[in-house]
Amino acid sequence: MKVTIVGAGNVGASCAEYILLKEIVDEIILLDIKEGFAEGKALDLTQTTSTLGFKSKVTGVTNDYSKTSNSDVVVITSGIPRKPGMTREELIGINAGIVKSVSENLLKHSPNAIIIVVSNPMDTMTYLVNKSFDIPRNRIIGMGGILDSSRFKTYISKFTNHNQHDIHAMVIGGHGDTTMIPLTSLARCKNELLSDIVSKDELKNIASQTMVGGATLTKLLGTSAWYAPGASVSYLVKAIINDTKEVLPCSVYLEGEYNANDICIGVPSIIGKNGFEGVVELDLNQKEFEMFNNSIDAVKQTNFTLNGLI
Ligand code: NAI
Ligand code: 2OP
Repeated sequence: MKVTIVGAGNVGASCAEYILLKEIVDEIILLDIKEGFAEGKALDLTQTTSTLGFKSKVTGVTNDYSKTSNSDVVVITSGIPRKPGMTREELIGINAGIVKSVSENLLKHSPNAIIIVVSNPMDTMTYLVNKSFDIPRNRIIGMGGILDSSRFKTYISKFTNHNQHDIHAMVIGGHGDTTMIPLTSLARCKNELLSDIVSKDELKNIASQTMVGGATLTKLLGTSAWYAPGASVSYLVKAIINDTKEVLPCSVYLEGEYNANDICIGVPSIIGKNGFEGVVELDLNQKEFEMFNNSIDAVKQTNFTLNGLI
């Protein structure tokens, strides 16, 4: 199995590291536009082989797409991250052009690859790839919901003292501070509903901290986070490569599911070797359904700004 990661920056490199540690691929190609940068990251990672004990090979290249040929999965992390105070949506001007040209180059060399879009604003970038190329929708997956759900579980654990491994919780909707929907009504700790073990105020607090989880880290770090994003992408790559059929919240192109059309937005998706292999329609309460519809409107507004690119 071969995976290409475009963008050897914070998220791309961390994603490469976690994929290496999972031992799920034979080869990783790390590609960046910055001269020598991906080569440097790949060499540094290669020098962890004997101490960390993995077998996969990682190669760095500067913009040489011929080396990415016949990748099974390609991950797009190229583009600029947000700075403190910025929204993900403000990145569109620069990132849309980058994501479109990178996808075009990747598809020339790996026409059958499954494409994972990470660059922000992620739902709109995933939509851009869907609209720009004639490839089946199941092969294009935006990653955001897995990360947001891991942040949701972190805050649930903080409030309840439950081990994160015992928490089942999901964030759907857009990957934006105001568009994501932590599903508090369905969240469970072991077999108990979260809403039965914390107060209404605590429930609200958990949801609001989750929604600004990325912004909190951006303020602390001066740029956006990378460990949990990289780990979330590696989790998705593993689900595809190992054909797990796990249900993960991913941004996928909807054709009537959740009453939505012509949009990519986070929904519970069955992930396997063909990419997303189905959408699970959850029984949302009325408030969550309204929030989902508002999220759709907001993501569609951002999509409108792609004018001229699709
Ligand atoms: P970074 O600045 O550390 O890395 C980005 C890399 O992309 C740089 O090395 C840059 O040289 C490279 N690049 C730029 N244009 C390129 C091109 N045309 N071809 C190849 N490489 C190119 O940024 P970071 O922190 O890794 O974030 C990357 C993107 O991922 C940002 O848009 C960020 O907002 C997004 N992100 C998305 C998350 C999600 O859950 N969907 C989570 C975290 C970040
Ligand atoms: C994050 O959620 C900014 O999308 C990035 O950390």
